[in-house]
Amino acid sequence: MREFLTALLEDDPAAWRGDRMAERSDWILTLDAPAVAEIESAVSAVAARGVDLFDVTRDDFPLPNMGGHFETMLGALEGGRGFVLLRGLPAARWSEAGNRIALWGLGTHLGLPVGQDLAGNLLHDVRDVGRKFGSDDSIRYYQTSHAIRLHTDGGDVFALACVRQGAGGGKSLVVSAVEVFNEIVRRRPDLAVVLQEDFWMDARGQRPDGARCQVLPIYTWHDGLLSVLLKPEYVYSAQRFEDVPRLTEAQREALELFHHVTQETGLALEFRLEPGDVLLASNHTIMHGRTEFEDAPDPAQRRHLLRLWLTIPNGRPLPPHYADTREYAQTYRQRMPA
Ligand SMILES: [Fe+2]
Repeated sequence: MREFLTALLEDDPAAWRGDRMAERSDWILTLDAPAVAEIESAVSAVAARGVDLFDVTRDDFPLPNMGGHFETMLGALEGGRGFVLLRGLPAARWSEAGNRIALWGLGTHLGLPVGQDLAGNLLHDVRDVGRKFGSDDSIRYYQTSHAIRLHTDGGDVFALACVRQGAGGGKSLVVSAVEVFNEIVRRRPDLAVVLQEDFWMDARGQRPDGARCQVLPIYTWHDGLLSVLLKPEYVYSAQRFEDVPRLTEAQREALELFHHVTQETGLALEFRLEPGDVLLASNHTIMHGRTEFEDAPDPAQRRHLLRLWLTIPNGRPLPPHYADTREYAQTYRQRMPA
């Protein structure tokens, strides 16, 4: 039996406004020289051994003095504001392989990696591969230069490391989905309930069982915690299938109000990732997106981000209807006691 939340979550640390957040800097964790040196030596050791990146474990990537940082990050991601910006990796000094080792190695200290697509790839490149997003399921937004609307990824947390920025644009946006929920409750509590009912979402060919859609709520209130799961385009593109129920008037209104609230001045936090930055955010409480970007003509100078999805050790209990989703199936299994 699903529970519906109609109360405000005003004291939740994950409920925040971007304009307030922009006045503070405690969401930025800048690595000091000894921490950078520690990471550099761990990267060099892995590179020298020439092992398969995905076989590299936490023990292979020793960071003896960074334990406090990881605790801080995990505390911010679950039970805190929901995101953190790690700053100061020497991305420009590393080759592409070095950057991959660094993100993977840091990830091993934060949690367990999660496959990001049907093929189970554990580390994605976010860059423009020169194709346009369309009705073809095989191309995904992170492989284009398009603006990406606010959405959630898969796994408890995503980590996005900036290797290189583009020539222009490509600003990152993060929004507290808990604060969006509060705004909706304040204005239209009836629509806050609608968003906790089932929506049909296009699976874009990414489900192991071949199902074209998955059916689940946008907001879930479970075990005293509010979680969001939404890729807005996929709610609309699910309507391309004739056997999918049409969106109701109330659902359309709820989606429009959701979008409207996120677009209001001051709600989103906007910043530009710089080379050496890693944005870590909870997919349960934070929605993220980016503005369109332009690339330099030289392929070696093009915008390049690396992405990891993680199950974190202090992750929240997942609602039963997440067990079968492409976003959380693996996290769900990883969290089950053996
Ligand atoms: Fe994303």
